[in-house]
Amino acid sequence: MLNIGVLVSGRGSNLESILDSIESGAIKGARVSVVVSNDPDARALRIARKHRIPAVAIQDKGGSREDYDMRINAALERNGVVAGKGLVLLAGYMKVLSKRFVELHLGRLMNIHPSLLPSFPGLKAQEQALSYGAKVAGCTVHFVVPEVDAGPIIAQTAVQVKEDDNEETLSARILRQEHRLYPHAVRLFAEGRLSVEGRRVRVSS
Ligand code: GRF
Repeated sequence: MLNIGVLVSGRGSNLESILDSIESGAIKGARVSVVVSNDPDARALRIARKHRIPAVAIQDKGGSREDYDMRINAALERNGVVAGKGLVLLAGYMKVLSKRFVELHLGRLMNIHPSLLPSFPGLKAQEQALSYGAKVAGCTVHFVVPEVDAGPIIAQTAVQVKEDDNEETLSARILRQEHRLYPHAVRLFAEGRLSVEGRRVRVSS
């Protein structure tokens, strides 16, 4: 059984799509063992509790990034998400991870980003795509490396940018695809079908 830890900060809709995919049997051989948030008021924590999953808030008290991340890591370990064996998912997690944490979980740490990377990394990716004038936008699931939004790409989905789009309508169209793409990537990982060769992620059939 693959133990998954999910790091969140807010709404938790991607967390929910993964929980639903596990509960429906679309993802097999994996369970979400713990959800950790830097914000105690995150809606994502309520979603976790609704699904009877341990939900932990760890507040940043102003120490080093690495110390904070080691507290996160301890919460993951306590719940069976052990580096080198488990899988850690970032799902709307708004803090930048320390190099130490990323290296500890390298190859077993994923993120979802609401753009077609490498275009529009960082904050407000949908707004960046709109104001740049892109005609195609989308979402990316990638392995995490210490540099933000730069790791090997696992899967992507494109969506059209429409003439009358604003940030809200484009974000909603992308989010619908995120809710399909992230469970798909987790399923590939749980089935042992992903391997990384340099920047390329190979998907075996
Ligand atoms: C999503 O758009 C995700 O791509 C980005 O943050 C947002 C999180 O939304 N990283 P939610 O908390 O999963 O609803």
